[in-house]
Amino acid sequence: MYSDAALLQYIATEDAAETEALFAAAREARAPYYGNEVYFRGLIEFTNYCRNDCYYCGIRAGNRRVERYRLSLGEILDCCRAGDALGFKTFVLQGGEDPYFTDERVAELVGAIRERYPDHAITLSIGERSRGSYEAFFRAGANRYLLRHETANEAHYGRLHPDAMSLAKRKRCLFDLKEIGYQVGAGFMVGTPFQTPECLLEDLRFLETLQPHMVGIGPFIPQSDTPFASAPQGALTLTLRMVALARLLLPRALIPATTALGTVAPDGREKALLAGANVVMPNLSPKAVRKLYALYDNKICTGDEAAECRQCLEGRIRSFGFAPNMARGDFAFGSSRTTEFFEGIRQRGSCL
Ligand code: 5AD
Ligand code: FES
Repeated sequence: MYSDAALLQYIATEDAAETEALFAAAREARAPYYGNEVYFRGLIEFTNYCRNDCYYCGIRAGNRRVERYRLSLGEILDCCRAGDALGFKTFVLQGGEDPYFTDERVAELVGAIRERYPDHAITLSIGERSRGSYEAFFRAGANRYLLRHETANEAHYGRLHPDAMSLAKRKRCLFDLKEIGYQVGAGFMVGTPFQTPECLLEDLRFLETLQPHMVGIGPFIPQSDTPFASAPQGALTLTLRMVALARLLLPRALIPATTALGTVAPDGREKALLAGANVVMPNLSPKAVRKLYALYDNKICTGDEAAECRQCLEGRIRSFGFAPNMARGDFAFGSSRTTEFFEGIRQRGSCL
């Protein structure tokens, strides 16, 4: 629907009016499916061990300065209990690619949460695994999976990751996850070293092909103990434009206003909501380990309790005219709200 030239124009524009028109169009595209509702997800960062060595990431295997931690099953269940008491209906279990968490252990963990919370959504974000592993986690009760593709350009991917990793493998994982039946989240960073506007165009085209249910987009932020320590951080407005473009291309998607956006600007997340995002992911991890999950420098909310974060975000969101929503907030598989409304009238035979 959008030509390459049109998308590149929006990616590159410096014009304030054009940018505002893009954000307005993104809000309009979101309205029929989600109105002004913003869904809350409780994030549990349960291990910062990782076997990978992505050049941008603070918890890469090669970073000897990270104090590593791994939450026990009991500690993770405590986070879920606290999150449930605060009203969260989605738990996002995120971690590095930690070999300790074998398929059996992950399945056990998912099963334990599923048993206690039969109606909650369980989202995994634990990197690349075999199709068989993904199937086992799905059977154990996981419903959603986040795996950002990071960049859809082959050469660019090679400059952000060691040779052991490949874009083809990452894409394979994403398509496997979708086929299995997960609600799937892809996504990318904006402003990583060597990224060009054409790379971002490829990211958008990849999203169109994959048709993910969720899209995570955040600015690259340098972490001081990585090879990209002195690279500049991604720009706020370019990141917001990419959020808006993702919304235009995937009107039904669940798009988080990311913590990284809140880190590059105090009102970065609220601006993302105004550019088409509709999800926030406050942290439920124990306060003692928050600072250790340092993918990038100066991460926000690392000193706050889960309850404080929830309250703070709720207030912020309301003040921007959005409605915090603690429901599961599944992907809008069905028709738009307007269509549902008229369908309801048709079935009931009346407006009441
Ligand atoms: N800056 C911003 N985002 C980062 N991520 C990892 N390292 C950084 C960084 N330095 C993002 C990646 C990953 C997600 C969990 O965090 O996109 O998929
Ligand atoms: Fe975490 Fe404001 S959102 S303290």
